[in-house]
Amino acid sequence: MAILIPFALLILPAIFGLLPPHATADHVLYTGEVLMAGQNLTNGQYRLAMQSNCDLVLYEGETPTWTASTAGKGNDCYLGLKHNGELVVRRNVHYTLWSSSNKSKKGKYALVLDGHGKLGIYGQRRWASSNQKETGVLDRSVVSTEYVLYSGERLAPPKKLKYKHYELGFKKCNLVISDSRTGKVLWQTSTEANSCYAQLEADGELTVKHRNNRLWSSNKKSENGPYVAVLRFDGRLNVYGPLIWSLDRKDDSLFPDASSSSFPRTGDFMAPNE
Ligand SMILES: *[C@@H]1O[C@H](CO)[C@@H](O)[C@H](O)[C@H]1NC(C)=O
Ligand SMILES: *[C@@H]1O[C@H](CO)[C@@H](O)[C@H](O)[C@H]1NC(C)=O
Repeated sequence: MAILIPFALLILPAIFGLLPPHATADHVLYTGEVLMAGQNLTNGQYRLAMQSNCDLVLYEGETPTWTASTAGKGNDCYLGLKHNGELVVRRNVHYTLWSSSNKSKKGKYALVLDGHGKLGIYGQRRWASSNQKETGVLDRSVVSTEYVLYSGERLAPPKKLKYKHYELGFKKCNLVISDSRTGKVLWQTSTEANSCYAQLEADGELTVKHRNNRLWSSNKKSENGPYVAVLRFDGRLNVYGPLIWSLDRKDDSLFPDASSSSFPRTGDFMAPNE
């Protein structure tokens, strides 16, 4: 096992190095994407900022509520989400200054800043809608619409998930992904009944129901835990989970001191007012 860790550290910088430096994410960052200095994930009054002073800071309004304590530790620092689900602050392409430490299987993950200011890494990806990926012009404008469905939540009409011109919602009982510019249906469940809702179950299965009857299911489930269904920038709906790491500003147990971390080069965790 000891050999695997250095190997992973050697090859993963190469993966980041080849990627264009962008984050399509507005409050979601996907595997392989990076948040460059000056960029943010924003959800309502909450903001995760990769600052030009190299620090990664979570804000509630103007108030910092958490920091990775990497200020001044390098130039051209960035935040990346690795293919093992680990979130890292790096400088000089590969040198890791801070890590979320919790690693998992190789796969596709999503970092989500939710509407309560909680940061979570979900994955790996369990399911994706079968439509083709749409390609669009990258634009980093802040998106204020909701495009994430959390497990335990229902999506019932007239509620929709919206990401830019992509929409997920019901046409009668049919759950549809459409392009609002053209009205084109990209994907649908073709379900029929009077009144329906979609639900993301605790085991990651996405269902369409009429009352308690299942009319459609993604047929992909895994261990119980928090999951998310995300309407992505490519027009597809993806389910990620369960949660492998989280940071909740209200929970002090999530600020362990650096000495208890298994990761050798982790920066200090510190609440800003300590
Ligand atoms: C990140 O947020 C800060 C503070 O609101 C803002 O000044 C900055 O322009 C944002 N960065 C981008 C790339 O939008
Ligand atoms: C890391 O994973 C362990 C095991 O699943 C979990 O108990 C712990 O809460 C996770 N750490 C964080 C900070 O989420």
